[in-house]
Amino acid sequence: MNRTRTCIPRKLFSIAHQNETRAPSSRRLFNAVSCSRTSTPIHYPLRRINPAIIRSNSSSSATTTNATWMHFKADVDSADIYAFLEPQTSSWQYIIADPVSLEAAVIDPVLDYNPASGALATTAADHLLAFIAEKGLEVLRILETHAHADHLSASQYLKKMLGGDVPICIGERIKSLQDHFAAMYGFTSTDFVESFDIFLKDEEEFQLGSNILCKVVHLPGHTPDHIGFVVGKAVFVGDSIFMPDLGSARTDFPGGNAKDLFSSMNRLLSLPKDYQLFVGHDYPSAGRQHECMATVGVHREENKHGKLGTTEDEFIEFREARNKVLGAPRLLHPSLQVNIRAGKLPPASENRVWLKTPTRLANPEIPVS
Ligand SMILES: [Fe+2]
Repeated sequence: MNRTRTCIPRKLFSIAHQNETRAPSSRRLFNAVSCSRTSTPIHYPLRRINPAIIRSNSSSSATTTNATWMHFKADVDSADIYAFLEPQTSSWQYIIADPVSLEAAVIDPVLDYNPASGALATTAADHLLAFIAEKGLEVLRILETHAHADHLSASQYLKKMLGGDVPICIGERIKSLQDHFAAMYGFTSTDFVESFDIFLKDEEEFQLGSNILCKVVHLPGHTPDHIGFVVGKAVFVGDSIFMPDLGSARTDFPGGNAKDLFSSMNRLLSLPKDYQLFVGHDYPSAGRQHECMATVGVHREENKHGKLGTTEDEFIEFREARNKVLGAPRLLHPSLQVNIRAGKLPPASENRVWLKTPTRLANPEIPVS
């Protein structure tokens, strides 16, 4: 099955942003990118798995399952990008790797959680571990774009299975969200010890191996702590923009707002038009398969909520109206309790791990003990 996916421009790019602020008058100067995208999703047989690394702690076994991933390369000689779909939450997980040194980073890994049974599993994360072992990658960092509210992070699990020394990184504003939700869920400051390892600053740059430079960009709006990662011409945008036919993510989480998200989307759409935006989720409508990337040029022309010509007022009006009709994410409370601790479970009580679900009493006469 051939599908069109990867754009491989010929000339090299630096990581430096161009046109950080997009002037309204220049918006219509941009044309939709015409990009030859040729890549094939591959069903990857998980073989030669190191049994010391892959230890499924669930009923599912990674050693007997095929993981599906897609390979992208944003530019010649740039990082290899591998995208893995976690289908239960429609989340995209990424591995970026230096093709020379094989040093790598994992972005937004997912822990499997069944809210009905309470079962936690590691099928998706074990696929990543199997791939890492198969490719001989050395993971230097685990990166989180934000405190997800719709799936549980597998960062702590990955860190443990990779030997315990790989730092888990997130934007520095996570601290304010930790304070907010700690009060809500009854955590103390000691509960956050040994959660995240590195708090990234805006515009911070770090090396992934000898050849790959990664730059942090603050992309607030969906959540206030939200960051993205620029690696060559690839940008890992988390939930700061969705695929063009979906448009944008909700902005009604604590600290989120539509005005900031419009600004963040504009910042992304101000990048050169052949930059590739890799999203954190995809919820394809009927007739389309899951996709994880569209170029800036395509977004400028087609993004359902933020294409060129969309005014800030229009976006805010639409986004806030849309927020009001969305139900709470199915995994909202489990996600937040785990993710503000980098994927670590809350402290056990009586040898069992409990996740809290706040209850709102629609009728105050309901007896409370
Ligand atoms: Fe999110």
